[in-house]
Amino acid sequence: MPPVLNEGQMQKIVSFAEERHRASDFNHALDHIHLTVKLSRYLAGKEDADNEICTVAAYLHDIAKGNSADQPKDDFAELKKESDGHGAIGAKEAKELLEKLGAPDFFIDQVHYAISQHDNDLPKMTKEAAVLWDADKLQLVGPLGFARIFAYYMVYVKKDVFHAIEQARYWEEFFLERFCTDTGRSIARNLQQFTERFFRLCDASRNGRARQLL
Ligand SMILES: [Fe+2]
Ligand SMILES: [Fe+2]
Repeated sequence: MPPVLNEGQMQKIVSFAEERHRASDFNHALDHIHLTVKLSRYLAGKEDADNEICTVAAYLHDIAKGNSADQPKDDFAELKKESDGHGAIGAKEAKELLEKLGAPDFFIDQVHYAISQHDNDLPKMTKEAAVLWDADKLQLVGPLGFARIFAYYMVYVKKDVFHAIEQARYWEEFFLERFCTDTGRSIARNLQQFTERFFRLCDASRNGRARQLL
């Protein structure tokens, strides 16, 4: 299928996202956006989802989070509710941008839906929404997930190493059960094999079980 957007339209979307994320907190900085785009493209190929919709949704998915260096303290806990707000707000802003750029309605609707569903625990009804969820959440499991969640809790919630480790373990388990695509699920399991041993060794160290560390 030929691309829906031309190069100029795509460049405006990328620039908009880059501008929004220039001053964002470390978990929503540009590296997170670029990695979400790369993972989304990979997953889209494997899962037969629309690559262009996945790419645009990935670029724009956190625009409602990208304009502040401050982070709400209950960032992760909000996922348990139907929606934490930045998905819905970002989806609306993405829709307005795409309308201004002259994108067709079906394309706008798909991007809007994927973004609106990336921050809640509801079933994802399109392949593209499933791909965005998985690309985003693959950065919250395994070694990178540990680093991001650990840093988040230490910086924004409580300067307590063991609390931050426990939270990283809790959220990894939470997300592991929620991957939507076969490819995302198998990458997540592979990443978790590393952190499983890591968390076991953390426990043994914390409790002084030296024999288990030999
Ligand atoms: Fe988000
Ligand atoms: Fe994100």
